[in-house]
Parts: sequence; structure tokens; C-alpha cells
Amino acid sequence: MIKILSSPTYTEEVLMKVWNEDNPEHEYIPRKDRSYLISYARKAPLYQIAIDEEKNGKVIGYIGLIEYDTFFVGGGIRVADEYQDNDKLRVGVKLIEARQEKINTANKPIIQEINTKTMPVEKFMQVWERYGWLRNPITSIRGIPNEVLEDYKKSNNQFLVYSPDADAFGKAWSIISPLRLIDILPLME
Ligand SMILES: CC(C)(COP(=O)(O)OP(=O)(O)OC[C@H]1O[C@@H](n2cnc3c(N)ncnc32)[C@H](O)[C@@H]1OP(=O)(O)O)[C@@H](O)C(=O)NCCC(=O)NCCS
Repeated sequence: MIKILSSPTYTEEVLMKVWNEDNPEHEYIPRKDRSYLISYARKAPLYQIAIDEEKNGKVIGYIGLIEYDTFFVGGGIRVADEYQDNDKLRVGVKLIEARQEKINTANKPIIQEINTKTMPVEKFMQVWERYGWLRNPITSIRGIPNEVLEDYKKSNNQFLVYSPDADAFGKAWSIISPLRLIDILPLME
């Protein structure tokens, strides 16, 4: 049985230790050493993890959250190779749902790049959209400083934002919906 451990969260140091012990063939590289990541995403996250209770609590996945004053940055998601894309287990989805709860409780918006290597980026973007995430927004989201949003836009990677604050977020949605253009005219002045 797969179990998600959400509380307490794991520091990057602890996650790296337990992940590498259980998954020696897929080493965890500290985020500060991943030069391909945007700078905001290189700070050490706090992690929620997935374990397999039938394998003595083997760590089989993790999802991270990097906290800034008014917003979060996604701290990555990974599922051990042999557990990926398993219709019955759906470890990735379980991790996403567990982290959504934390984001909603903290009531802060979050931004993250998508750079999957094991499945098409477009397919993974669609998974996040199901949880209310919005891709490549062109307008500001309350809580995410504009310079942060601009850096993500400049990165030329696909990225997504999510906000538990429906009001702040509603404006961003209307920007991309031609049917609701009337709603955003005041914002464009
Ligand atoms: C991306 C990742 C976390 C997904 O986790 P997962 O446990 O395999 O995902 P799930 O089994 O919960 O499946 C979620 C959805 O993705 C789809 N999916 C998963 N792997 C897929 C693959 N290789 N090809 C196509 N679709 C795939 C599933 O079919 C499912 O779609 P659905 O919800 O429409 O039915 C996992 O593949 C992974 O760890 N990849 C390596 C690290 C990585 O790329 N992280 C993401 C960085 S942005």
C-alpha cells in the first residue's frame, strides 16, 4: 500500500539521505547544484514523501515546496522509475493532491516550471490544470512579485501558477479567455 507522509515535512538534507538509501541507482542532486533550474527553484524545499508500506516503508516518491514570504515555488516531484505511470497506484497524482492541501492551508500562490523527462510536458501540464493550475499567465497574480513572474516568462520554459485566492486568480483566468474579454478591459487600461 502506498502512503503519503505529509507531516512533519522532510528537509532536503533528510530527503536526500533517505531517497539515496532507497534508490541508489537514481541519485538525488541538491537543487542548488541544478544549474538548469530558475534561481528561485534552487532554494532547498520541504518535502512530502510517498512510501511503499509493503516494501518496509521504501521511499518511492517526493514532492517539494519552497517557501518565500508571499508565495511558494514548486520544489519538484519525482516518482521512482518502477512505480511511474501505474494506473492502480497513481503515486504522482497522490503527491500532487497532498501538496495541494498544504498550499490551500497556507493560502499562498505558487509558481513552478514543468520540465518532465519521463512523460510529455504537455501531458503533465494537463494533469496540473485539472487541479486549477494556470499555464504561462500573462498578468500578475496577487502574492507573486512581478519580477518573479517576468523571470519565469524569460526562461522560455513552460510554467504554471496556482492560487488558492480565487479572486486574485479569477482575473488571470479571464485574461486568457476571449469570451470574458469584457471582464479584463479595466485591467488593460
Ligand atoms: C512526472 C512524474 C512525477 C509522474 O508521476 P507518476 O506517478 O508516473 O504519475 P501518475 O501515475 O500519477 O500519472 C499521472 C498522469 O500522468 C500520465 N503519465 C505518467 N507517466 C506517463 C508517461 N510516461 N507517458 C505518458 N503519460 C504518463 C498518467 O497516464 C496519468 O494521466 P491521467 O491522470 O490523465 O490518467 C514521474 O513520471 C517522474 O517522477 N518523472 C521523473 C521526474 C520528473 O520528470 N519530474 C517532473 C519535473 S517537472
